[in-house]
Amino acid sequence: MTATGALSITWYGHGTFLLVSPGGTRIAIDPWLTDNPACPADCKTIDRCDLILLTHGHSDHIGDVVPVARATGAQVVAPNELGHWLAKKGLKRVSRMNIGGSQTLAGIRVTMVHAAHSSSALEEDRLVYLGPATGYVLGFENGLTAYFAGDTGLFGDMRLLGEVHHPDIAFLPIGDHFTMGPEDAARACGLLGVRQVVPMHYGTFPQLTGTPAALRALVEPQGIRVLELKPGETAT
Ligand code: NI
Ligand code: MN
Repeated sequence: MTATGALSITWYGHGTFLLVSPGGTRIAIDPWLTDNPACPADCKTIDRCDLILLTHGHSDHIGDVVPVARATGAQVVAPNELGHWLAKKGLKRVSRMNIGGSQTLAGIRVTMVHAAHSSSALEEDRLVYLGPATGYVLGFENGLTAYFAGDTGLFGDMRLLGEVHHPDIAFLPIGDHFTMGPEDAARACGLLGVRQVVPMHYGTFPQLTGTPAALRALVEPQGIRVLELKPGETAT
């Protein structure tokens, strides 16, 4: 990847991605590898990344943050309470943020945004609440902007995110049951004003019934491209 490259997107299945920015910064998002049934056997580790972004504390989003952070020495970015909890677990480089805030890390403008979801972890049979669930807007070196929704239902302020950030591409959950499904994801595309969407958080478990085909049928007539990846696949 060169400084004039494009954004590279690798899907590890479910909500886990590795992005390589146009300038070469490697960004792991919500690393869940070992126990992720959608993650291919030859993709169970991430051994090189600069940033790890966490959207919320559910185990299917942070399951492998400790080993990936240890292996890579990457800067971890997390919502405030989740960040505190992970620091207590021994993670060293944790940058805690909260909704509405931005910072520039390794050349990437990172903005934490609202998500309509929850955030918790089971600890010795006790449910610990870990602050808000979040998404991220990422501003890349070449002006490209991506919206990573995390786990969320549809919310009207996606229109505001569109007005403020003008995302070129959105990563949206479509699985239904724990997040929005394809119909609300199609509405989200309209609110955000994106021309490209990467569907995620589907097919991992039987309850996650939403499909890229259902999303495509709804958004392609509006000229919105669905970038459907297979787990382990990279798109540019
Ligand atoms: Ni979740
Ligand atoms: Mn999830």
